[in-house]
Amino acid sequence: MTKQEPVRGFFFACTDKSEAECLSGLVFGTEKFYGPVVIRIRKGDLIFLNNITTNKIFGIFQAITNGGINLRLNAFNGKYPYQVEVKPVGDIIEKTEAEKLLYKHAIKRNRPLIGKYLIKFMEDFASIDEQLKLATVHEGDKSNKSILKQIDILREGNMKIDIEEEIPLIESTTFWDFPKQSYGLTPKGDNKYPGVTPALIVYNLIWRYTQPGDLVVDPMCGSGTTIDVCKSEQRRVKGFDISPTRPDIIQNDARNIPLEDNSVDMIFIDSPYGDNVKYNTHPDNIGNISSESTEFYDELEKVMVECKRILRDGKVLGWLIGDQWVKKKFTPVGFKIYEELTRHFEPVDIICVSRRGQSSNTGVWHNRARRFNFFLRGFKYLIIVKKSAKISGSTKRGKIQWASYNRRREDNKPNNSEVII
Ligand SMILES: C[S@@+](CC[C@H](N)C(=O)[O-])C[C@H]1O[C@@H](n2cnc3c(N)ncnc32)[C@H](O)[C@@H]1O
Repeated sequence: MTKQEPVRGFFFACTDKSEAECLSGLVFGTEKFYGPVVIRIRKGDLIFLNNITTNKIFGIFQAITNGGINLRLNAFNGKYPYQVEVKPVGDIIEKTEAEKLLYKHAIKRNRPLIGKYLIKFMEDFASIDEQLKLATVHEGDKSNKSILKQIDILREGNMKIDIEEEIPLIESTTFWDFPKQSYGLTPKGDNKYPGVTPALIVYNLIWRYTQPGDLVVDPMCGSGTTIDVCKSEQRRVKGFDISPTRPDIIQNDARNIPLEDNSVDMIFIDSPYGDNVKYNTHPDNIGNISSESTEFYDELEKVMVECKRILRDGKVLGWLIGDQWVKKKFTPVGFKIYEELTRHFEPVDIICVSRRGQSSNTGVWHNRARRFNFFLRGFKYLIIVKKSAKISGSTKRGKIQWASYNRRREDNKPNNSEVII
């Protein structure tokens, strides 16, 4: 850790069952849900351990590794793979009434402590006497001195904020509504790019379906949102577009992706929804084809077939798509894309993503929608499918195969003793 890097404070939880392993093994762990927090821990950061069964909090520990996945494969019987290895800074202090202390400092596990907030917490956690003791207990242990030095730097107000105030948690429902296009300290994609994807869509998909180090591909990556999110979440990434907007995007047609069969861990695509948005003038831009024509679905189906070829078995493709209402005509683009996708992939789920930041999100358009009796598009579909050996992938568009339900026939009435719920 270089001197310039600020120290941040992180909180882990344990129970009576896991406390001993944490304190004796000096490894703290948690599940995937807090993975986005753990991978942001840097060697040298300060860590506290909260036993939620006994309402105690232990500290002060210092990370001796960066946070990561399966640092110790056998720890916690594999139940808590997101881990950091720590060492105590001086004697371990044990405090009761942890909940009260955490509440007082508005601490959540996805909210690292930074700057003056970390100082305030440290002062409450360890009195000045205790802090001095911490610095002198192990003579010659430079890390103790460096902690005090870091606290001094914090006190002088020189601490740069280099981490999100609150690290986004993974969505738990099938309705996603993100007020901003990006998250965190650095931009993800370009929020001025027409049809830019909300970055938290990619964030949620990669945290659910991949792990750090996995390879994610976006064959139509526009302004590079997928690339930026993957880099910030420690995934490997390849982004292609027919008309690249920056040097790290590879020029390529999504109907022919230059990657090996079965080599990719997840794909995300926010494809054109028809010819409503002018992305560029490239002749092979599928966004020049109307979603009212079958050609549009034929061309996107070629992209689907390529995605299936490069994905590893059982891995996921997330496809973002919206419907069209143009010149008094409704086209259910989302349903049609779902139908195409499920001829090649196994359905996993559908997320309804709220549409914000549309050019039609103005008072004038809302008034027109009321006066002329039409609806503005309020949501998009995020269709999640996975590659499965069970689906052979017929390229023939046929009748949709709906799941069949056993309906009660007239001639198959229940007798009086059966209870009908
Ligand atoms: C909705 S935008 C993607 C937005 C992107 N996810 C972002 O956040 O900036 C759709 C993209 O598909 C690209 N595209 C259209 N036809 C393509 C093709 N045949 N091959 C690759 N990309 C294509 C367009 O250039 C456009 O950038």
